[in-house]
Amino acid sequence: MTHEKQQYNIFNVIHDRRSIRKFIDKEIPKDVIDQILTAGFRAPFAYQITSVVYTTDKDKMKQLKRMGIYPSTQLFMVFFFDFNRMNKIVQARKYEYDFDDSLLLWIGLQDVALVSENVTLAADALGLGSVLLGGAPLMVEQIAEVFNLPAKVFPVVGLCLGYPDPDHRMEVRPRFPLKYTAFEDKYKELTDEELKECMQSMDEGYITQGYYIKQNAKIPLAKGKDTIDMDKYSWCEHISRKISQGKWSEKTLLDILRQNGFNLK
Ligand SMILES: Cc1cc2nc3c(=O)[nH]c(=O)nc-3n(C[C@H](O)[C@H](O)[C@H](O)COP(=O)(O)O)c2cc1C
Repeated sequence: MTHEKQQYNIFNVIHDRRSIRKFIDKEIPKDVIDQILTAGFRAPFAYQITSVVYTTDKDKMKQLKRMGIYPSTQLFMVFFFDFNRMNKIVQARKYEYDFDDSLLLWIGLQDVALVSENVTLAADALGLGSVLLGGAPLMVEQIAEVFNLPAKVFPVVGLCLGYPDPDHRMEVRPRFPLKYTAFEDKYKELTDEELKECMQSMDEGYITQGYYIKQNAKIPLAKGKDTIDMDKYSWCEHISRKISQGKWSEKTLLDILRQNGFNLK
């Protein structure tokens, strides 16, 4: 496919993108994957700390599923902080690696986020769809085994890609209106009334789309009787239940990073 300007309007691609969770069984040509990744790595970078491992291998997909990672697609990618390559570059230049890893992680996170965002947009522009999988850092051991990772190559986020199933086309999801997220000259604390409107704008949008009903996704309450029916259950309730759950896993992400060789005092 050629990159003719009239074919892709970046604003159309951005505004039409939505996460896709159901894909048809259609092979993704290698040159399409290469185009998407090449566009991904055109993102701005601070340290070029990103690496990607991708697979279309059915056995690897099965292996991932057995381990609790559900690619459910033809093409699965994982985006990594690659401190291994960085370390080698430093050594090749005859320096000793001595850095505050917390800073490098922070910078790296931004590098990886920009690459993965470019990848999602490039994929959409070529008629594919995608959904990110945020649990990747907590599955580092499994991902390391499947993808043969050396030390200090750490998963940030997974991405399922494929051709969208037209029978399961999701709608474009709402966002907070700009007046609650973008402020000119100084930060603005929202009044109670504004916060209510801000929350309503998301909740009404999700309820109109029947989003959580279609997804059959409701986070159970840790305690007490759940009095919110599915037709009233919406984004603010969902995110609040997530954020009030305490730890996601036995180990915190900091514990996991330290175990993986990062110097975080
Ligand atoms: C860092 C990150 C992690 C995500 N992890 C998941 C995930 O594990 N499973 C999932 O279904 N969607 C995941 N998503 C997709 C979001 O749910 C989705 O982007 C959000 O609901 C907005 O919808 P939209 O992408 O359709 O606009 C993730 C998105 C981001 C940015």
